[in-house]
Amino acid sequence: MIRAERPAVERNAVTERIDFAALPDDFVWGVATSAYQIEGAVDEDGRAPSIWDTFSRTPGRIAGGDTGEVACDHYHRWREDIGLMGQLGVGGYRFSLSWPRIVPRGDGRVNAAGLDFYDRLVDGLLAAGIAPSATLYHWDLPQALQDRGGWPVRETAERLAGYASVVAGRLGDRVRHWATLNEPLCSAWIGHLEGLMAPGVTDRTAAVRASYHLLLGHGLAVQAIRAEAPDSEVGIVNNLSTVEPATGSEADAAAARRMDGHTNRWWLDPVHGRGFPADMREVYGVDLPERAGDPEVIAQPLDWLGLNYYFPAVVAADPAGPPPYARPVRRPHVPRTGMGWEIDAGGIEALLLRLTREYAAPRIYVTENGAAYPDVVRPDGTVRDPERTAYLHGHLAACARAARQGAPLAGYYAWSLMDNFEWAYGYGKRFGLFHVDYATQARTLKDSGRHYAGLIRRHRPTR
Ligand code: NOJ
Repeated sequence: MIRAERPAVERNAVTERIDFAALPDDFVWGVATSAYQIEGAVDEDGRAPSIWDTFSRTPGRIAGGDTGEVACDHYHRWREDIGLMGQLGVGGYRFSLSWPRIVPRGDGRVNAAGLDFYDRLVDGLLAAGIAPSATLYHWDLPQALQDRGGWPVRETAERLAGYASVVAGRLGDRVRHWATLNEPLCSAWIGHLEGLMAPGVTDRTAAVRASYHLLLGHGLAVQAIRAEAPDSEVGIVNNLSTVEPATGSEADAAAARRMDGHTNRWWLDPVHGRGFPADMREVYGVDLPERAGDPEVIAQPLDWLGLNYYFPAVVAADPAGPPPYARPVRRPHVPRTGMGWEIDAGGIEALLLRLTREYAAPRIYVTENGAAYPDVVRPDGTVRDPERTAYLHGHLAACARAARQGAPLAGYYAWSLMDNFEWAYGYGKRFGLFHVDYATQARTLKDSGRHYAGLIRRHRPTR
């Protein structure tokens, strides 16, 4: 029954042998998660609320009224979860630190118990031979800072740097790999323009100011991390998209250029010393809260760029919509994941090459890539998810192709280690390599996880 509802998978999708020869020997095979999506324990050990606690407790915001209150209970089960990573054979784990657990009010008092949690986690990872990669900000702004204006105000950027000093000071002797922001595009545009993510604001001026302060906060945080832990390798994680016009019309071509600016260039250009794109400043029509010296802060040289890739964008002009006046078009007969997202592995290859050629990325990590499907554990205890297996395999093959063409690809983190709280979609969308039964918190390895483990073993036969 269950299988019949699932889309067909091309028979030979996972038999293609991937040539990993161009990947470096120390290539990081990893999995990723984020704090609010897995930890739960939102009221424990001195953690204060974040904007996602507030947002998810607001009726109507999250499918099914779900919240991250318990999530995968990782706060209590982290040892077991390191064990899951061991089963996969990964060499890297990308996770995020919960700002409201560590600095509950956003600034001022540091919560020792919150820091201790990550201290133990990092030690546990290292003992298991897994390199930690810590993201400072994966969307969970302390509510106290939101109450003082949130990302639209400059103070929030400064507070991010203060929090960065605290965590780099404590963990920087063991964590080498740091990301400042995860997908600032979502924080700014989805959180402040579309209002579909916390804090749920729909205000163009707030959104543009938020985008500016996010990038300023990024630059200040890079400086703060390096001041505390000079050997750190610091980067930023963006979700980029290939963008194509829906038709050959000039209007759609212009919409595609705007969408490219909105999704890609707005986040990449300033960080690379090119300033905020002039065409997009005009599209938004909002003055940036710029001060002398900011462009240099934002453009701190980075050790690596992170790419989160899920799907391509195909857009048509939408003069009546919000900026960038371009709307996604649903093409018929294109394979899609359970999110309704188009599957196009060529997109990851194109973006890796773009980061290499246009932005001279010193190193690139695919910091997220994956697919959601409505998985179930069968009576025999297995989870059959051939579509996810094909998705991962196809995208890894595309990554390997990009590496052969010169992309300095240094690692790949599958999203996600296990099913978790998928933001506004709640628990209904499952991205994990492990299935989570939220009633019992049982984790079950999916076939895709087994396949991923096999690919890792093939590339690193000695592990
Ligand atoms: C990107 C986000 O960083 C992550 O939190 C989310 O769960 C995945 N995309 C899937 O939507």
